[in-house]
Amino acid sequence: MIDAAIDSAIAQIRAVTAAGQGPTVRTFFDEATFTATHVVHDPATLRAAIIDPVLDFDQPSGRTSHQSADAIIAYVRKEGQTVDWVLETHAHADHLSAAPYLQAALGGAIAIGGEIVTVQGVFAGIFNEPASFARDGSQFDRLLADGERFSLGGIDAIALHVPGHTPACMAYVIGDAAFVGDTLFMPDYGTARADFPGGDARTLFHSIRRLMALPDETRVLLCHDYKAPGRDHFVWETTIGAERDGNVHVHAGVSEDEFVQMREARDATLGMPRLILPSLQVNIRAGHLPEPEANGMRYLKLPLNLF
Ligand SMILES: [Fe+2]
Repeated sequence: MIDAAIDSAIAQIRAVTAAGQGPTVRTFFDEATFTATHVVHDPATLRAAIIDPVLDFDQPSGRTSHQSADAIIAYVRKEGQTVDWVLETHAHADHLSAAPYLQAALGGAIAIGGEIVTVQGVFAGIFNEPASFARDGSQFDRLLADGERFSLGGIDAIALHVPGHTPACMAYVIGDAAFVGDTLFMPDYGTARADFPGGDARTLFHSIRRLMALPDETRVLLCHDYKAPGRDHFVWETTIGAERDGNVHVHAGVSEDEFVQMREARDATLGMPRLILPSLQVNIRAGHLPEPEANGMRYLKLPLNLF
């Protein structure tokens, strides 16, 4: 026994595997930000969830666009699916979220982990957000806690709090498929960085060990892939067994201290993600753009000499 939430997830995965009735996943990969957006659905009821959708953003011009999101809308409509959920695994630092755009077109509740309030508090300070910016997560329709159950048609799902990359990171286990956000990447690439405000390598290690307690056959769907030395194509799906056996940063033989040392040394060499400043200002608002100013224009801030 690891803990009650993981035990429930294990029971759920075993039941789904035994019955052979897992969800179907279709992935849309955005090469501009290396983000995998997953559309997962129950084949029996065609109820669907969209996980980590991307709003296209051209930073030099400050222009947002919807090519990536429109491809998802076209797919969902063509397949006749009904969207119940638009799930964010965390407040992303590398892309803007298209959750509100997809919700307007397809419906569904926008959900994220309840610890988003911590992230909102930190970044409200960094961006000197006005008092009108709510720090209680109310921009989202639903805040999920560790172990909280939800469903996708006839398929059971459970939310797991997996902090470390950010304090609010969640994994969503839908049937036998675990959408792990920025925790694990492909075994040959390793793990997510843990040096953003509120991130912590030791915490990430514990979250990953919880995920690795899931059954070997658990399907693992990633939020990103960056290829890896010797691999020239993108991959975004693996299994818990493959991660436990072979993840270059955190396979079963790696100790907590070894991981923390490696992660912190590596993070010290990484530059900030290209879109971190625009992304956070939008994503702490559940993907809504900042309110227009008196002239009707919306603006993003650029804090100087912060990172
Ligand atoms: Fe991230």
